[in-house]
Amino acid sequence: MKDGKLGYAVVGLGIGKAHVDAVLANPHCRLVAVCDLIEEKMARVLEKSPQTKAYLDYEDMLRDEEIDVISVCVPSGMHADFSVCAMEAGKHVLCEKPIELTPERAMCIEEARIRTGKKAGIIFQNRNNACMKPMKEAIDSGRLGRVFCGTFAVKWYRDDAYYEGWHGTWDMDGGGSLINQAVHTVDLMQWLLGEVECVTSEMRVVDHDIETEDFTASLIRFKSGAVATFVSTTCAYPGICTAIQVYGTGGSIEADGDSLTVWKMRDGDEDEEEDMLDRFGQGNRMASIMDPSLVAGHQSMIDDMVDAVLSDRDPQIMPMEAIKALRIIRAVYESAQTGKTVYFD
Ligand SMILES: NC(=O)c1ccc[n+]([C@@H]2O[C@H](COP(=O)([O-])OP(=O)(O)OC[C@H]3O[C@@H](n4cnc5c(N)ncnc54)[C@H](O)[C@@H]3O)[C@@H](O)[C@H]2O)c1
Repeated sequence: MKDGKLGYAVVGLGIGKAHVDAVLANPHCRLVAVCDLIEEKMARVLEKSPQTKAYLDYEDMLRDEEIDVISVCVPSGMHADFSVCAMEAGKHVLCEKPIELTPERAMCIEEARIRTGKKAGIIFQNRNNACMKPMKEAIDSGRLGRVFCGTFAVKWYRDDAYYEGWHGTWDMDGGGSLINQAVHTVDLMQWLLGEVECVTSEMRVVDHDIETEDFTASLIRFKSGAVATFVSTTCAYPGICTAIQVYGTGGSIEADGDSLTVWKMRDGDEDEEEDMLDRFGQGNRMASIMDPSLVAGHQSMIDDMVDAVLSDRDPQIMPMEAIKALRIIRAVYESAQTGKTVYFD
C-alpha cells in the first residue's frame, strides 16, 4: 500500500492487457508492475503508465514489496504454479479462467490460499453480464417453476493463426473450444442449473490442425432432474452468438451472449416482457465471438478483487466455485474419449 492505494501487478500480457486497463481505471490501486517474456508487450503498457515497472522474470517481480495483488494471465497450464508462488511470496491473486487444467492442479491454488491466508479470486466475468442477474433470480426464486431444460451453445470462430501457439494443446490449454472459449458458459450453466449428475459427450477436431478439439456436444443431466444440451465450437464461421436458454414450467428465458432475447413468464404480461427486453436486451452480443482481443467485462472483476482486499472479504469467485466448471469439462472430455456416460458423486 502506498498513499492508501493497493499495489497491483499483472503477469502475462495477452488478456492481461484488459487487466492492465481495469487496474488503471480503478482509483483504489496503482499499477506497480507488469511481467511478460516479450518486452514489446510491456513497452506498450509503459507508454500508458510510465511509472509502472517491467519485469522479464516472474521470480524477480515476486520480490517487489510494493506489490499487494497479482493478476495471473499466463497460459492456463501455468495458473497453479504462478498463483501458488505469488501467495507464498505474500501476494493476493486474481487468476484467469480456467482456474487450471485439472481439479487436482486447481486444488493446489485452494490449498495455498488456506495455507498462506492470502486471497485468491478467479475470473468469470460473464457472471456479471447484466442479463444474468434476472435470469438467476427467476430460477432461484422459483418464478420459472420447475426448470426441466437448458440449451447452451457457444458457436464461436477462431482462425488457424489463433492455434499456432499453446491454444488447442492438451498440456497448456487442457482441451480446445470447451475449456478455453466455452468455460464461461459451462460456469453459467452450473450456476443456473445446479449440481450435475452425469455427462454424455462427443468431441471432434473439425477444421483446425490441433490435437484436442474444436467441437464438443454433450447431454448433461442435473441432480434437480433438469437436462441440458451443451455445444462448444470454434468452427462456426464467422462466429455466432452464445445461446443461454432455460425453460421451466413457469416460463422461458433466452439470452444471446449478454443480451436478453426472450422473457416469457406465465405470471407476467407484455409490459413486463417489453420492459425486460429494453433493460437487458442491449448487451454487446457480438463482442469476442470472432475476435479474442474484444473480450470485455474485466473491470467488474478487478474492482471486486481490489475491494475484497481493502475491505478484507472474500472475492466474488473463489477457487472451489471455479473448480465446478472444470469438473464438468473434464467429465465431457472423459465421456467423449471413453464413449461412456460419466457420473458425478
Ligand atoms: N476471461 C477471459 O475472457 C479470457 C480471455 C482470453 C484469455 N483468457 C485466459 O487468460 C490466459 C492467457 O490467455 P491469452 O489468450 O491472453 O494468452 P496469450 O498467449 O495471448 O498471452 C499469454 C502471455 O503470457 C506470457 N507468458 C508466458 N509465459 C510467461 C512467463 N513464464 N513469464 C511471464 N510471462 C509469460 C506470454 O509471453 C504472453 O504474452 C489463459 O488462461 C486464458 O484462458 C481469459
